[in-house]
Amino acid sequence: MCPDAPVPPLASAATDPAQRAARLLAGVENGLALSILDGSPDCIKLIELDGSLSYMNPNGLCVMEIEDFAQVADRPWPELWPDENRQVLNAAIRDAREGRVTRFEAFCPTARGTPRWWQVTVSPVRNGRGVVERILSVSRDVTDMVEARRQLEEQARLLADEVAQKDEALARQKVLLGEIDHRVKNSFAAVIALLRMQARGHRGDAAGIALEDAANRISTLARVHEQLHLDPGSSLIALPDYIGQLARDIGGALGAQVDLSPMPPVRIAPSDAAAIGQILAELIANAVRHGGKPGHAPVIRLSMAQTPEGLSLVVEDDGPGLPEGFDPAAGTGLGMQICSIYASQLGGSISAGASDQGGARFALLLNPPSARMDGAAG
Ligand SMILES: Nc1ncnc2c1ncn2[C@@H]1O[C@H](COP(=O)(O)OP(=O)(O)OP(=O)(O)O)[C@@H](O)[C@H]1O
Ligand SMILES: [Mg+2]
Repeated sequence: MCPDAPVPPLASAATDPAQRAARLLAGVENGLALSILDGSPDCIKLIELDGSLSYMNPNGLCVMEIEDFAQVADRPWPELWPDENRQVLNAAIRDAREGRVTRFEAFCPTARGTPRWWQVTVSPVRNGRGVVERILSVSRDVTDMVEARRQLEEQARLLADEVAQKDEALARQKVLLGEIDHRVKNSFAAVIALLRMQARGHRGDAAGIALEDAANRISTLARVHEQLHLDPGSSLIALPDYIGQLARDIGGALGAQVDLSPMPPVRIAPSDAAAIGQILAELIANAVRHGGKPGHAPVIRLSMAQTPEGLSLVVEDDGPGLPEGFDPAAGTGLGMQICSIYASQLGGSISAGASDQGGARFALLLNPPSARMDGAAG
């Protein structure tokens, strides 16, 4: 009874449902049992202790497509099943004889050969003294359910095959990417070596300096490429990891240290990351080249922030600062031109000014469509 339910008044013999049912059913026990057997949608059988069939309800005859019970009466029940199920049935009969209930699912065609799957419960029927006198078998037609399950399993198998094929293609692609990456690295190294060799032939003159500059820029390109391929399996690149590693790498190559501020967990498409990498490489190179004071290596700082206007990347130093009236978009230096080209490719802009320490400060502001915050949907 529910805890808060009101206490019912004492039931009289006329109102108590249990008493009422007992009165209505008095003397009809056998009739009631038969009407339950007749009304059940399942195939219900009564089996003798020796396994012979002594009763099957009308619906059972119908679903088993048996026209006349005489066709199966007194026959051993297991014999009505395909050979491969007989062992299970004999065990179920033995268990029921010993007072235990068995449940199993098995295939058995009807008398006319229609394929059917059954969920079968075999249980002992005891007399008033608790002695097992007969066996009751209730079989439910679960063909539709088994078929649906089989189709589901088939779909799961097809899906697993597809995933395995995709995994295989992905693994092949990885190997191919590794091979391409290797070749690109070799090509970069060959071009850099060639330019340096030519530069040595023009030592000291303008052509030699230009060739050395070109070799350095290609070496920066090679670094950007290398960092991008550290994580070839990912479609979006973790920008803080990428630019952090790139800054350390380029700073190391130029003999300067780049301090990194904590950065938000932005992920970005590799092509956008490559463009950002090129800009940062030029700005760091400029800070090393123009941001030093005599006898003092520049302190270079790289930071990134997500602002209401977009993603902001800042490179600043503590050097002498920018020349009077400096305009990053108007210079003739190749470095700033490279920065402008990549910034407009990213749909962003570069602004220049003074850092807190009086040095130069370059800010790159962009809204790359590929940018996602880590952990954000989409
Ligand atoms: N961090 C900096 N501190 C001071 N001046 C800078 C800084 N960065 C750039 N500049 C000034 O801006 C100019 C243009 O830079 P840009 O990178 O375009 O050319 P560059 O570095 O002189 O030569 P390159 O074409 O080889 O890069 C520099 O010559 C320098 O005067
Ligand atoms: Mg430069």
